[in-house]
Amino acid sequence: MKTVAVVGTQWGDEGKGKIVDLLAADADVIVRFQGGNNAAHTLVVDGEKFILRLVPAGALHRGKTCVIGNGTVVDPIALLTEIDDLKKRRGVPEDFLKLSYEAHIVFPYHRAIDQMREARAGKRAIGTTGFGIGPAYEDKMSRAGLRFDDLVNFKSFTDKLKRNISDKNAYLKAVLKGKPVNGAVILEAMQRARRRLMPYLCDTGEYLAEAIASGKRVLFEGAHGTMLDIDHGTYPFVTSSNCVASAAFAGTGLGPGKLDGVLGISKAYTTRVGAGPFPTEIKGWLADSLREEGVEFGSATGRPRRIGWFDAVLARLAVRVNGMWALALTKLDVLTGIDPLKLCVAYQYKGKRYETMPPGRHSMDTAKPIFEEMPGWMEKIGSARSLGELPANARRYIERIGELAGVSIAIVSVGAERAATIVLTNPFA
Ligand code: GDP
Ligand code: IMO
Ligand code: MG
Repeated sequence: MKTVAVVGTQWGDEGKGKIVDLLAADADVIVRFQGGNNAAHTLVVDGEKFILRLVPAGALHRGKTCVIGNGTVVDPIALLTEIDDLKKRRGVPEDFLKLSYEAHIVFPYHRAIDQMREARAGKRAIGTTGFGIGPAYEDKMSRAGLRFDDLVNFKSFTDKLKRNISDKNAYLKAVLKGKPVNGAVILEAMQRARRRLMPYLCDTGEYLAEAIASGKRVLFEGAHGTMLDIDHGTYPFVTSSNCVASAAFAGTGLGPGKLDGVLGISKAYTTRVGAGPFPTEIKGWLADSLREEGVEFGSATGRPRRIGWFDAVLARLAVRVNGMWALALTKLDVLTGIDPLKLCVAYQYKGKRYETMPPGRHSMDTAKPIFEEMPGWMEKIGSARSLGELPANARRYIERIGELAGVSIAIVSVGAERAATIVLTNPFA
């Protein structure tokens, strides 16, 4: 395959960053197509940890082009901070990144609205990252948003931004009973950011089309996960973009024929940050122990992640909505020492067994998981580089997940390091 999309199949944090970094070795261009800095993708290379929020996880390889597509919402200050960090730690060249003219800008008033709404919602809060992602996408859809394209004419950009600030401050004060944002400070910060960002602006759709036409390999990097998708996830406990593979088209400016395959990423168990239904959730000492072993604390906000068993109903949904070619199973090493292991094979809902999601996502509020137990293993597996080096029970567990999800397993990850991986089928091979 020459064009491959990597997407999350659960509630995010599946290890997409690690897998994209690994596959980027064989790609020429790596492109983000949705979301913003609510994403946090962790890469561990030669013992050094990097957390990328907006820059695609191909940035640690030399000679690759990273693209931030039109479907994203970008906080300019967060992006510049990330670029500076990559320059300092990795010496990335000036031309490593291209940013779409059509990507939307996230402003401090988006963050303020996001945070004030969450505070006001109390127990009903979604548990957002608080980075203004929902309000920025709202502005995009209501056509009040500002895009990087607007920066070209700074005079008209300033006029539009002043109008927006005035509207948002009225809303912040009157409805959310919050503090207004300081327009002068925002304008000055944007003027400084503009000078630095203009060189990155590009017609990224045209660039990607030409790259594909000339035979380059393109890796599409999804953010968040299928269950956080605005349409297919656990609405309203979701993020504000489509995170499924089909978003790669609208979010880059390419057509459906341009994607050869979709690799879904799943943990060998399940986690979720933020509120919302979670049928296979585990509570108590076992959850605490898996959280500790898997270092399950949000990379974006540091919040403890909720922990659950692997859920094949979700996996089947992800296979369908993403048209998945294969699965990469991550964090298998975290399950060492847990015996027995449980796998959710179906849901019980209103007296009936469902192999696929019962109708309507509200069903997840009361659906009960039907578990199957499998024997665990005690050996540390972090140094395994082939299936043969894994304990027999770990191999059976992987096989069973493939069977239950109805998809083949292409990659098994046994540690956070780039090298701690068993590659069964490289999608670019
Ligand atoms: P992403 O948002 O999908 O890129 O995932 P995150 O980076 O937010 O969270 C995944 C976490 O698991 C990170 O801390 C990774 O370094 C780590 N990780 C990824 N794969 C593995 C693995 O196979 N084993 C272990 N132990 N950690 C992993
Ligand atoms: P990556 O790409 C995990 C969750 C938030 C919250 C909900 C809405 O690292 O996998 P938002 O700020 O997007 O409006 O919050 O979505 N969420 C994520 N959870 N990983 C992510 O990204 C997430 N992006 C958003 O915790 O529940
Ligand atoms: Mg993450």
